[in-house]
Amino acid sequence: MKKLLASYGRDEEFRAVVEQIIADEEKKNNNVLARSLRKTLENIGVSPAPATAGLSRLVPFPDEAKDFIQRVEPRHTSQDIVLSHENLEQFVSLIQEFRQADRLKRHGLSVRSKLLFCGPPGTGKTLCAEVFAAELGLPFFHVRLDSLISSYLGETASNIRKTFEFARRQPCVLFFDEFDALARSRDESGEHNELRRVVNSLLIFIEQIAPSGFLIAATNLDQHLDPAIWRRFDEVIWFELPDTGMIRKYLTHAFKNSKIAFDPGVFAEELKGYSYADLEKLCVQTLKTSILDGSKQVNDAHFRSALRQAKRRRRRESQIEGGRLTG
Ligand SMILES: Nc1ncnc2c1ncn2[C@@H]1O[C@H](COP(=O)(O)OP(=O)(O)O)[C@@H](O)[C@H]1O
Ligand SMILES: [Mg+2]
Repeated sequence: MKKLLASYGRDEEFRAVVEQIIADEEKKNNNVLARSLRKTLENIGVSPAPATAGLSRLVPFPDEAKDFIQRVEPRHTSQDIVLSHENLEQFVSLIQEFRQADRLKRHGLSVRSKLLFCGPPGTGKTLCAEVFAAELGLPFFHVRLDSLISSYLGETASNIRKTFEFARRQPCVLFFDEFDALARSRDESGEHNELRRVVNSLLIFIEQIAPSGFLIAATNLDQHLDPAIWRRFDEVIWFELPDTGMIRKYLTHAFKNSKIAFDPGVFAEELKGYSYADLEKLCVQTLKTSILDGSKQVNDAHFRSALRQAKRRRRRESQIEGGRLTG
């Protein structure tokens, strides 16, 4: 019976299970039941493949949640992301688990479905969540924590409950970006008691939910992350700034559709400390410079010109950052 239920929606598997039940009944000499089951099976016929094969059904979205949850149409695919070997392996394994959840469940095992993405800005946490949803054919929902928290503080405490209820029923990737806002507010004391209460209740929801897709939270904090937070997740995935090997890989990838008259890889060493987002800006600027130059090929000079701008930008940013830290 369990197998029969688990095969719901998959015609072939369903039929195989029914055949097995019929065979068992025949063995037990329950021929009347066996014949009747076979007749019923024959009458079911083959259901036509749904138009959205591979895509999940959509559960009505709670109206109250519109202010803080947004459906985002994925625009990127796995072709657009450069991943470390380690993370690639992680994602392949997660996807495999999800796709074969039934097999695991039959053994009483659950799928890892609550993920925490940690790492500095611009290393692909948001991009990866989007690509992950696209790869799985799951709708991608973005939770805006700031609005969620303020709406919670306001009047609608049940919004959070509805959000989680939605994620329990709707196979989707529910993405909490900028989760650090939450992580940080846990530290704040005294007058922020109310906020802390909200945060704690959110964490309890996270702990208790068994999403029918995935719940992913992303944070820029790493070592300072409160254990009370990361232990609610099934898996913590680290995103790092690219090393020279990954920088080279990214540069090759960034110019794959352009005619280039230089080897961008020679700049890899000089670009240490740049995030993927920085590298992306640099490469886009290089292409623009080359186009505006009326050039048929992207060359070394275009890259250097964009690199000078990138360096100036980084200097300014680090000054601002430094100013903020010292006072
Ligand atoms: N690993 C990566 N591979 C390719 N491009 C990336 C990667 N990480 C970031 N980018 C580029 O930088 C942009 C910003 O990255 P994002 O995912 O928002 O970083 P984060 O969420 O870690 O701050 C992305 O839209 C993408 O263009
Ligand atoms: Mg992000």
